[in-house]
Amino acid sequence: MLARSPAPARLTRLAPSSSLRTSIRLATIAPSSRTYANKACTDYLTPTHLDDHVPQDVQLKLKRHAAVTLNTYARPNFILARGKGCKVYDSHDREFLDVSGGIAVNALGHADDGVAKILQDQARKLVHNSNLWHNEWSGELAYLVVQKTKELGGMGYPAGQASPDANGSADDGGLKVFFTNSGTESNEGALKFMRKYGKYASALRNAHGAEKGVAAPTEEKVEIVSFRDGFHGRSMGALSATWQDKYQAPFAPLVPGFVPATLNDIDGINAAVTEKTCGVIVEPIQGEGGILEASEEFLRALRKRCDEVGALLVYDEIQCGLGRTGSFWAHGSMPVDCHPDVVTMAKPLANGIPIGAILMKDKVADVIKIGDHGTTFGGQPLQTRVAHHVVSRISAPSFLTHVEAVGSYLHSRLSVLPTLFPRLVAGPPRGRGLILGLPFKRDEYVQRIVKLMRERGVLVLSCGKQTVRFVPSLTLTEHEAEKCVDVLESALLTLDRESEGI
Ligand SMILES: Cc1ncc(COP(=O)(O)O)c(C=O)c1O
Repeated sequence: MLARSPAPARLTRLAPSSSLRTSIRLATIAPSSRTYANKACTDYLTPTHLDDHVPQDVQLKLKRHAAVTLNTYARPNFILARGKGCKVYDSHDREFLDVSGGIAVNALGHADDGVAKILQDQARKLVHNSNLWHNEWSGELAYLVVQKTKELGGMGYPAGQASPDANGSADDGGLKVFFTNSGTESNEGALKFMRKYGKYASALRNAHGAEKGVAAPTEEKVEIVSFRDGFHGRSMGALSATWQDKYQAPFAPLVPGFVPATLNDIDGINAAVTEKTCGVIVEPIQGEGGILEASEEFLRALRKRCDEVGALLVYDEIQCGLGRTGSFWAHGSMPVDCHPDVVTMAKPLANGIPIGAILMKDKVADVIKIGDHGTTFGGQPLQTRVAHHVVSRISAPSFLTHVEAVGSYLHSRLSVLPTLFPRLVAGPPRGRGLILGLPFKRDEYVQRIVKLMRERGVLVLSCGKQTVRFVPSLTLTEHEAEKCVDVLESALLTLDRESEGI
């Protein structure tokens, strides 16, 4: 078990090594008004969960599994067996504070009682019945996602505009949902919809009000623009939109028609997005790429250009959406002239039960006909009922306020670190809510910090651009956030001494 973080202010802590003796002002953290001092936490200098201490039964098991498992993941030598909230426990009952959240998936934490109850109940009723027949939950989930988007803001609806539809008919329309099984599949679907929209909707546009669906399709409008350092998934279409060499190069040639552009380069938009463009896909906050936010001005310019050329604007909110930023959608807090035509989602939607979805405006849904797209598992009653429960909870104003409050606490603690560790930390934290990244000066520092923290019982992730990533469960408490940064500070002290040769 981890030692508990002491509550008192850290005025008595050991001074950091010579390069760290910079004085910084005391910061006061809302909402608990705790103060923390200008010295790094030294409570976790001694490792408690050494990677190399692998019990023999674990070694044997991992060896047996390795012999039959395709080796695509670099994993440390322990086996996670259970979890509760933001804690996970290995097969020898060692506790870890999980600040990785299953890579931004376990929004309600591990082994959530509400999720467990629903899973058990639905498993006894109906798990799967194909998409040949209606089920009780898929339509209800679609209704809830549409309604919450209208209420809380997003997809062209300003926050606070719509009130819940009393008779539950949602017959004002406007938005439609298609269910998938993962993030990459949500994006595959969105890419297909862009292509069909480009072929048919632009033909209709040019035919000046011709009857829906009868104008001859154009084959010209097929290009898809996406952004360097973005990540959209590993299937061939989504990979073709993922302009990172390490992911694309081994699998070339990719799908033709994809065009790279640079995030936040407003001047570059017109050259990339042309009359040939059927769609643009962008993460409002690039996750894998390094927690890099698209600016409001950039998204507004992108929206404007998509309207000019008749292209669809798709936001991939698979990592940053569904409450993670403290608003329901990451783009929901922005003015409507920055909103997209389509949002793709997945990760937290059912708290770890595989599901994804594509939320689109009616103008997109109108070009998709029966038989155009489909999936065996998407929208089945087990995952959609769980997702209905998850969306109900994460869209509650008090839940979103919690994410914002804990996120800003974590952010303010991380903000101190560039001053405390100027040789290691490259700058202030990036991101908002509980999708945060701390940039480092060298990639090996990132890898070392992730390991040093793990060896002190805290799981964090790395991501592109030399960054340590914090995407915990959205139920993370302030106390857990405090512990995370305390351990990070001890890890930074350790690394600073290592790199000074002490
Ligand atoms: C922004 C974004 N899009 C798409 C994906 C792919 O999702 P999945 O792994 O569920 O296919 C990810 C996964 O990390 C992601 O972060």
